[in-house]
Amino acid sequence: MIPELSNPSVCMRDPQRVQEILQSMVKAGSNTVQVISDFDMTLTRFAYNGKRCPTCHNILDNSNLISNDCKIELKELLTYYPIEIDSSRSIEEKLPLMVEWWTKAHELLVQQKIRKDLLAMVVQESDAMLREGYKLLFDHLYEHSIPLLIFSAGIGDILEEVIRQAGVFHPNVKVFSNYMDFDESGELRAFKGELIHIYNKREGALLNTGHFQELRTRPNVLLLGDSLGDLTMADGVHDMENILKIGFLNDKVEERKQSYLDSYDIVLLKDETLEVPNAIMLYLTGNN
Ligand code: TMP
Ligand code: MG
Repeated sequence: MIPELSNPSVCMRDPQRVQEILQSMVKAGSNTVQVISDFDMTLTRFAYNGKRCPTCHNILDNSNLISNDCKIELKELLTYYPIEIDSSRSIEEKLPLMVEWWTKAHELLVQQKIRKDLLAMVVQESDAMLREGYKLLFDHLYEHSIPLLIFSAGIGDILEEVIRQAGVFHPNVKVFSNYMDFDESGELRAFKGELIHIYNKREGALLNTGHFQELRTRPNVLLLGDSLGDLTMADGVHDMENILKIGFLNDKVEERKQSYLDSYDIVLLKDETLEVPNAIMLYLTGNN
């Protein structure tokens, strides 16, 4: 049906079920579809030429807006990443540690009095990289008036700048993320609203009922993520009919493969491209 589903990076627990979901979504029509995607390591690359690509937080951490002393403290927080991807610990066990990670990181960033007017330059000078095929994904969704919700535990101001500079921040894109709160002089003084971390996207979704209410005529969801925490991003969708979950498994592939296969319909192993999501999107819109 979709040749890209035979790519070597593709793994599926139940290919038959994937076909059924896709057929059901095609039948319902692309005007009933919405896309919900994570940002870091899902829309952006995990690595390029063997080198890790930055997350929203890393873009700031590595920039010259951060003092050397603070960089040292931020480096110490890298010890939380192995916990994030540790398949031997339960989500319940990891959750308080993830809250601790985000809280400490945001406290450090706030101490740096980061200036709003310098964010565009920082993103410009960073190694941020959207996955290959991003332009087709964003442009095609826009052309077909399919809403794209980017739901990120990263930093909203940074991710918006990444997609703006890439020329794909179209009007059909909506972002739920952690936004910076600047004082009257344009210096960072806090983060706005409820913290979104890797394991509370469900709560974040339920806080934004208005968005999902507006999209109630679109009960068919294409979900893209790279973490098991991303699976709850669609929990606010009204009267869901079908959901197809595509998961990028970037790191610690062998250890985590089974848990990803158990929860994502399609798992993409070390695949740095959007080839498979794009093929599915084209299929859903009748390839035009
Ligand atoms: P996402 O929801 O867009 O994927 O963003 C969350 C990612 O951000 C998650 O994989 C961990 C990462 N992260 C950092 O790289 N540095 C940090 O300081 C924090 C708090 C998170
Ligand atoms: Mg992610």
